[in-house]
Amino acid sequence: MKPRKLKTNVYWVGAVDWDRRLFDELIPLPDGTSYNAYLIKSSEKTAMIDTVDPTKTDMLIDNLDQLHVENIDYVVANHAEQDHSGTLSQMLKLYPNAKVVATPKCKNLLMDLLLIPENKIVTVEDRETLSLGDKTLEFIHAPWVHWPETMLTYLREDRMLFTCDLFGSHLATSDLYVTDEATVYEAAKRYYAEIMMPFRMVIQKNLEKIRDLQIEIIAPSHGPVYDKPEFIIEAYRDWVYAPPKNMVVLPYISMHGSTRKMVEYFVSALVERGINVKQFDLAKTDIGKLAIALVDTATIVIGSPTVLTGPHPNVVYAVYLANALRPKLKFASVIGSYGWGGRIVERIAGMLSNLKVELLEPVVIRGFPKEDDFKALDRLADEILNKHKEHDLMES
Ligand code: FEO
Repeated sequence: MKPRKLKTNVYWVGAVDWDRRLFDELIPLPDGTSYNAYLIKSSEKTAMIDTVDPTKTDMLIDNLDQLHVENIDYVVANHAEQDHSGTLSQMLKLYPNAKVVATPKCKNLLMDLLLIPENKIVTVEDRETLSLGDKTLEFIHAPWVHWPETMLTYLREDRMLFTCDLFGSHLATSDLYVTDEATVYEAAKRYYAEIMMPFRMVIQKNLEKIRDLQIEIIAPSHGPVYDKPEFIIEAYRDWVYAPPKNMVVLPYISMHGSTRKMVEYFVSALVERGINVKQFDLAKTDIGKLAIALVDTATIVIGSPTVLTGPHPNVVYAVYLANALRPKLKFASVIGSYGWGGRIVERIAGMLSNLKVELLEPVVIRGFPKEDDFKALDRLADEILNKHKEHDLMES
């Protein structure tokens, strides 16, 4: 993709990674991603905002060549993670006058992770400004989106906010700006769920910090640029602030059909009671879809058979993830089956320590479900209904 103009003398110079399917060797990328870097030419100085993943260095250099960039004065590192900072060393070699601009914490990480020499880094305080001539950068410290060193950069004259990971989406697209809002909403929600949700309370503070900025364009470092910033800001407000919805998320696995039969019966029982359900077979599901569902659901019910006295390993992984992501869940329970004994409830409950959930009485049975077991599932469905009613969630 060639450089693309966003404003007078402001260009996208990043790389679209159409084929990447895994991030951090962990996070599925069904739609690829992009590493957005930006170039700002001003009357006196030239600055770049973030770089690209090391695998795409050639694309960044090619874009800078096409714009005939002979000198860069500043490379702003909003974030030290390598998908944005991984090309800093090459930039400093190609442009020997350049200084890296970063928060003090980012400076330390850049020195530790990328071996950037200390004398090449200039630190900036919260709300400090840097004049480039007829354009001015303002740096807004925004810790924990999603590392401790992160900041946002505001280009005052053009009312552009460069947010790095915040508001980003793992989406490879030829669109410079958001055109297909539904697709971007899904990708941005997935991104929020997987990357940002554990820091929900801190994000509230960061959203407050930018409330009074006049923003015409939000330019994140993954996915398309927002020329209607309220689209993504309103989405974040909903994900961060709104109460959870009348929904049960049901990740499960079944080895021989007993837990599956329980899940099928239980899902019908919930739906009959007016409760929405999203069920995920952990043998097959895209784990990112589960993360998205956790953003605004009120209740999680985990379905597991018993393996070597504990839950199935795929269930352990999903529960670990749910606990680490710290969603707005209010209630949790367990359903499942065993052959001759086990401790799946204790093991699963012990893994939910980050979540402020009320544990509802589980239904864990011996073998294939029988009449009394179905009654127990009805009892659990009734209890969830009552809890959702008590918390005024039925209309949400
Ligand atoms: Fe896109 Fe935290 O790096």
